Amino acid sequence: MIISATTDYREAARRKLPPFLFHYIDGGAYAEHTLRRNVADLADLALRQRILRNVDGLSTETELFGRRLLIPAILAPVGLTGMYARRGEVQAARAAARKGIPFTLSTVSVCPIEEVQKRSPVPIWFQLYVLKDRGFMRNALERAQAAGINTLVFTVDMPTPGARYRDAHSGMSGPHAPLRRYLQALTHPRWAWDVGLRGRPHDLGNISAYRGHPTKLEDYIGWLANNFDPSISWKDLEWIRDVWKGPMIIKGILDPDDARDAVRFGADGIVVSNHGGRQLDGVLSSCRALPPIADAVKGDLKILADSGIRSGLDIARMIALGADAVLLGRAFIYALAANGRAGVENLLDLIEKELRVAMTLTGARTIAEITPESLARATKD
Ligand code: FNR
Repeated sequence: MIISATTDYREAARRKLPPFLFHYIDGGAYAEHTLRRNVADLADLALRQRILRNVDGLSTETELFGRRLLIPAILAPVGLTGMYARRGEVQAARAAARKGIPFTLSTVSVCPIEEVQKRSPVPIWFQLYVLKDRGFMRNALERAQAAGINTLVFTVDMPTPGARYRDAHSGMSGPHAPLRRYLQALTHPRWAWDVGLRGRPHDLGNISAYRGHPTKLEDYIGWLANNFDPSISWKDLEWIRDVWKGPMIIKGILDPDDARDAVRFGADGIVVSNHGGRQLDGVLSSCRALPPIADAVKGDLKILADSGIRSGLDIARMIALGADAVLLGRAFIYALAANGRAGVENLLDLIEKELRVAMTLTGARTIAEITPESLARATKD
């Protein structure tokens, strides 16, 4: 078993959340091979210890789209974040702001765009899915820009939802889900008190504001399944390039050819990601997918990476493989579920410390000095 701050928070989240929510966060698609590989392949990458290299004045800062980040990390878009802690999106956005890093608001958040941006001291990022209903997409983009959001994360690896068998087992989906969820809520009173069983906390802020769409969790999975658009192609996205004024990042790339297409499309960044192993089980772990993508497009756009990152050491590993920065998914969600904003702040502090130690002992004084040479040769290929 791996011991880390994230595993401790995971255990705390498991105790606090009703099973349908814990397994929704924790689980992946099908047999969860890719989910496990994301973590295991990263752990297998040995860092190259260097000594007596004078790393005085070490800095974990980096610049991304004109903004200084105190650590090269962003909080990933995670649906239903307001179900794991009261007004969870606001709590996480404030924790991110304290650490000087962006928070990304999911399309399927509980708190609406306007509320999260208003209560965050710095601009958040907004994530949009490709949905059949272009009116919904246009409306969401307009709302995000009107709220003052500049950076768009456009998630393209969900033309259809992956089969998540854990959700069927746990009561998240399936015909008996509402009853099972209700019974679980009764046996998890801390969570039920924190988030509430009925009413406002279950509204899906960004969706419910749009007429004709469901407002309650009951309809969420069905609505998404009906609205994801398998007919989408690069050409269909051009209108978004025109509508969106700020940086646009394409999330869900695993192949160098797709990364080159993203450059041709005019994207400002990509996220090398397999959606945390939640989509197509059996695809490459993202740390294995990253090096050839970096070879293909490094310097043409910003390369972000996620899936499996659980520590500051993992951040160093991803940067050594060619990422400019990473997204944290489950790592921050476990901490949020366990202890709200304070949990996320603590987790980010621990991750920063871990990154500092990794940089010190690999002899990197700056993020730019973390290179493929920071990995031990035996594990590089
Ligand atoms: C996600 N992810 C996700 N991605 C996205 O673009 N929009 C979304 O609404 C969601 N929702 C979501 C819910 C939950 C519970 C999880 C765990 C993940 C994917 C997320 O942004 C990110 O790619 C992964 O979480 C990264 O993998 P790790 O770090 O969780 O292993």
